[in-house]
Amino acid sequence: MQITLESKPFATLETDALVTYVFEETDPAQGRVAELDKLTGGLLAKLSKSGELTGKTLEITLVHAPAGLKATRLLLLGAGKREQFNPATLRKVAGAALRHLKSRGVHNFTFVLREGDLTEEAAQAVTEGAIAADFESDKYKTEKKNDKFIETVSVAGYGESEKAAAEKGIARGRIVAEAQNFTRDLVNEPSNKLEILDEKKIAELKMGALLSVAQGSVEPPRMIVITYTPSNAKPGGPVVGLVGKAVTFDTGGISIKPSDGMEKMKYDMAGGATMLGVMRALAALKPSVKVICVVPATENMPGGKAQKPGDIQTAMSGKTIEVLNTDAEGRLILADGVHYAKQLGATHLVDAATLTGAIVVALANIHVGVFGSDQAWTDKLLASAKAAGEKMWPMPMDEEYREFIKGSFADIQNIGSGKGGGAITGAMFIREFAGDTPWIHLDIAGTAWNDDAKPWLAKGPTGIALRTLVQLVTSL
Ligand code: BES
Ligand code: MN
Ligand code: ZN
Repeated sequence: MQITLESKPFATLETDALVTYVFEETDPAQGRVAELDKLTGGLLAKLSKSGELTGKTLEITLVHAPAGLKATRLLLLGAGKREQFNPATLRKVAGAALRHLKSRGVHNFTFVLREGDLTEEAAQAVTEGAIAADFESDKYKTEKKNDKFIETVSVAGYGESEKAAAEKGIARGRIVAEAQNFTRDLVNEPSNKLEILDEKKIAELKMGALLSVAQGSVEPPRMIVITYTPSNAKPGGPVVGLVGKAVTFDTGGISIKPSDGMEKMKYDMAGGATMLGVMRALAALKPSVKVICVVPATENMPGGKAQKPGDIQTAMSGKTIEVLNTDAEGRLILADGVHYAKQLGATHLVDAATLTGAIVVALANIHVGVFGSDQAWTDKLLASAKAAGEKMWPMPMDEEYREFIKGSFADIQNIGSGKGGGAITGAMFIREFAGDTPWIHLDIAGTAWNDDAKPWLAKGPTGIALRTLVQLVTSL
């Protein structure tokens, strides 16, 4: 899909669809929209009067053969209240426009930005929204909708002086959204693996926690390590460690899960896929910060060799762990992942994991749960999430919760002894391995998968947290 800048006036644009957006509770005939209204002989005012054009968020109004325009169609999207409008809404508006037009066999459209929105961020948001919306989970469908595709999105509205900023936004948006789609492709894959550190090396490094999860499977584990070392990294500057949970299939192990919905557990590697996607984007964006990505990958299976509740394992750090529930496996593999990232030199850590059902109880599928050991580092991440338009919410990490994971027969246990706070317990466990290194855990169990399609995004993997982490690293 091409994304290009268009500078011709609206009336002369020969496009399959001219797309723009209107706000709620203001006369739609303002600025650019007033121009459009005039060109079309008062069409927008009429639509507004008839109640078909209210500006409500993601309302869609499609007009064929609009008089006064060279465009085949005019598509108007609701953008909500002007005061609340931001790049996150713009991203959804652009995404919903693409999906609406694509499903109707349209191949090209021109997205006109409104006056006041002609920034680099806006161009980036439109690009990200369009590219993420274009993604379909149809890789394994033999009947593809080959006639339904978008060839070109033109972004219009920028003047000569804003052109450079717009080009920059489009270029950055493309890198980020393509990396997000790459992550979504990885999540969609059935439970296969990538190859890096093999089981022999993993055993040599004494990653006992990762090995314990893998031992029930005939598929050996892997530890994927990717290092990005820019030549212009500041000496003594931060080294970011990104650790992603990649359980390629989570049956629960001997503490087996119920069969209902178990097929979804192929997405238990979404945290790892996110980190690989982030590295892909960073390779293209080339920030001046060193980043080490560590992805422990394994299946969690029951079987004759599987670990059993009550088994005691020694993690790479030397800490001993009582495995009371083999289904709390994500924290085990992250224990070794986080320790290894530190050993490789990470000074600031972030892990992402589909860690707990409890985070879905707490925050549903709306917010990512954010658990941090260091306020300054956590604040940076939350600001990045805001800038990237991904909803994230800080969760408590008080010392009192540490009691929950004190072991009876080993240093710590892998599930809480208290009632409730399941997502926090999981985070407290991982924190044991981060130690004093500033660390953030993102629980993406509720947000990494869309059970239903949204107007702006397909059903299935979402690629959540990728944009935030790219923003975090590039803003350091
Ligand atoms: N991969 C699951 C978490 C999960 C649950 C993700 C539901 C998406 C939807 C994780 O490995 C797990 O099984 N967690 C357990 C922990 C419990 C045994 C302490 C859970 O949440 O039930
Ligand atoms: Mn599990
Ligand atoms: Zn899991």
